[in-house]
Amino acid sequence: MTTYDIALIGFGGVNRTLAELIATRGETLHADLGFGLRVVAITDLRLGSLVQPEGIDLSIALKLGGGSETFAEHGGSADTNNESVIRTCTADIICEATFTNPDDGEPAVSHVRWALESGKSVCTTNKGPVALRGAELTSLAEQNGVHFEFEGAVMSGTPVIRLAKKMFAGLKLKGFEGILNGTSNYVLGRMETGLDFEAAISEAQELGYAEANPAADIEGYDVQLKVLILANELLDAGLELKDVQRQGISTVTPENIRKAAREGLRWKLVGSARRNLDGSVTAGVSPVALPLDHGLAGVSGATNAVSFDTDLLGPVTVSGPGAGRVETAYALLSDIIAMHAVRTGAAANA
Ligand code: HSE
Repeated sequence: MTTYDIALIGFGGVNRTLAELIATRGETLHADLGFGLRVVAITDLRLGSLVQPEGIDLSIALKLGGGSETFAEHGGSADTNNESVIRTCTADIICEATFTNPDDGEPAVSHVRWALESGKSVCTTNKGPVALRGAELTSLAEQNGVHFEFEGAVMSGTPVIRLAKKMFAGLKLKGFEGILNGTSNYVLGRMETGLDFEAAISEAQELGYAEANPAADIEGYDVQLKVLILANELLDAGLELKDVQRQGISTVTPENIRKAAREGLRWKLVGSARRNLDGSVTAGVSPVALPLDHGLAGVSGATNAVSFDTDLLGPVTVSGPGAGRVETAYALLSDIIAMHAVRTGAAANA
């Protein structure tokens, strides 16, 4: 039986949910997928670090987090020790799920680099390293003969990146446009029903969609990172963050929304990229009043969708959750499944 040893870097909602899936569904997953998963290291800003090559008792680790206890009381350390844990632990795969830093991607970029340099594969849900250092880290993974997977960086576990990379073989991708931020889509929808902007944001925060600083959602920074990732990964655009024009929804007024409704239009925050005739790629995010029969106009609430413009099929649209603990933890699992498929030569998901 193949068992992959994994290290969880960051023990917040996403990696905690992955640990719960392993603890509660490990046997089923093994039967379905042909491999087992064993957690051998966990690091966390609040809990410190725990390294147990024989396998961590997840029922104990999952109980920690609510109080002042740290891993020090359970055979580990109160210090995070990320570099030494990542470099020296026995994990085959590092699951990186720390916070996204849109400025320089740190500390997640270093987490990924340390892992790849020490011959460990990485899966991450973190937009920072992928958007800001994606090409460099992919090349580092290749040099070290390991994998760097990041399906969860865009639209959580909804298959987008891998689907487009693998299933559009033989097609020419001309561009894409999408609703890539659930919070702003939810806010625009609630404003259409008459709620004011601030109240709609508060609702989105209560429902857990919005980032702690909702400006990341509302002002388009989150979508800017996602567009950058999709443009570089799928269109080989070679763009930097500054190349992706950004405008959020704070300029959309209730009157704009009422006027659009009278004219058969609906405001959406659209992230897009398109290949130009000269081969360059233009990418951006901005609010757009879409006709109601546009494929993205009916995408409501916190749902995300991305429509790919292909030469042989025309538009191909993928819609699904763009956030959530379970949905994002599944993205990590899908990354590990993809690594296993490559390792075993299986075609599906490889
Ligand atoms: N806060 C984001 C959203 C989810 O509202 O879609 C994470 O990217």
